Formats: sequence, C-alpha cells, structure tokens
Amino acid sequence: MNSDQKKQQAAIAALAYIEENTIIGVGTGSTVNHFIDALAARKLRIQGAVSSSEASTERMKKHGIEVFDLNSAGDLDVYIDGADESDGQLRLIKGGGAALTREKIVAAASRRFICIADDSKLVEVLGKFPLPVEVIPMARSYVARRLRALGGRPVWREGVITDNGNQILDVHDLRITDPVALEDAINQIAGVVTVGLFARRPADVLILGTDAGPKTLP
Ligand code: 5RP
Repeated sequence: MNSDQKKQQAAIAALAYIEENTIIGVGTGSTVNHFIDALAARKLRIQGAVSSSEASTERMKKHGIEVFDLNSAGDLDVYIDGADESDGQLRLIKGGGAALTREKIVAAASRRFICIADDSKLVEVLGKFPLPVEVIPMARSYVARRLRALGGRPVWREGVITDNGNQILDVHDLRITDPVALEDAINQIAGVVTVGLFARRPADVLILGTDAGPKTLP
C-alpha cells in the first residue's frame, strides 16, 4: 500500500468520530482532502465545518459542505487534521502546507483533535521534518537570527505567502527532545505569529494508515 492509500485509509477511519448535526473543524493537506471527499461521499448529515485554509474551504464548498466562521460557530466538538510528524505522545509538527496558524486556532477551539496520517509520520523524536514558523514579513531576518541562536537552521520558504499574508521559515537540523519548551521559546520571539509545534495542545487521537489497516493511538 502506498502512502496516499494509507492517508485515505486513516481519513475514512476518522469518519467514526463525526457526530451528525454538529459543526466540525477541518484541517488542511492531502490527508484531509481524502477526509473531505469521504465525508461528502458518506453523506453524513453535519451542519457544516470550520475550515483551517482557503484550500480546504474551496474543496468543501465544491462538495456542498457549508463552511462557518469560527466566530459564529463557537467551540467545536471535533477537529480533524493531518500532520508532518507525530511523536508517541501525539505532539506534532504541522505547517507543511503553510496553514499552521489557522490550524492551531481551530485545534485550540476543539474539544477533541483527531490527527490522521500515514504511518511514516510517527517518529521517536520530532525534528527531522523542518519545523515551520509563520512570521510577520518585516521580522523575517530578525526571527531567523533568533532561531539560529536556538540551534536551528532556518530557511525562508520563498514565494509562499500564508492565508494571513505572512511568510514561513522552515527550521532544519532540530532534534526536539522537549517540544513544550521549544514551542514556548519560539512563541516568545517578537514577529513570530505561530510555530508549527503542537505540543501544548497535542492531538487526542492519532489514526495511522498502515499495511495492516488503520491503527489508533493512544
Ligand atoms: C498543513 C499541515 C498538514 O496537515 C501537513 O502538512 C500534512 O500534510 P499531508 O496530509 O499532505 O501529508 O500541517 O499546514
């Protein structure tokens, strides 16, 4: 089974966490795209969704799924999203698709965060995947210097502008043994909008697509 098939398998398994007549949170990325397609195909009667990106909004609208503003939806029961890496405690690196800020907001506003991924995303120690950091454009070089002082090697994701009009630095060469401390440290840097470490608010459930079928953690 290839990684895309595993993503689809995890996405379909996540449908079991959706209750009818609720507004759900929906993340961003290729795994979530499978989830949106499966949700539409299954014809589950949800009220609609709060979206973490323009891309997911567009996909859901094409399927006829109503998209709500978080300000009018209030707290959500469940948030479904992918990840670039997860450790065994379901602390995540996210933001490969540059949607990390809205993803963090919708995850924070949700009672349960169900993360869906193929099994290659589960790692012992976070950091092999470069850590995305969304920055205010005028602060990019300053933030890069501060990230270097923290031991990373930031690389500007040139040409990418987030849905919020900001830029992304991808921080290489990190071995993140204390994700909460690093999340806090990066959040303290002036000009940082969001760091793609989801350690203070990890996933509650991780569904991995595997050759042997969907595997759920914890
Ligand atoms: C987007 C994300 C995605 O969840 C992450 O990049 C995983 O993407 P994919 O499902 O395509 O592997 O954080 O900002």
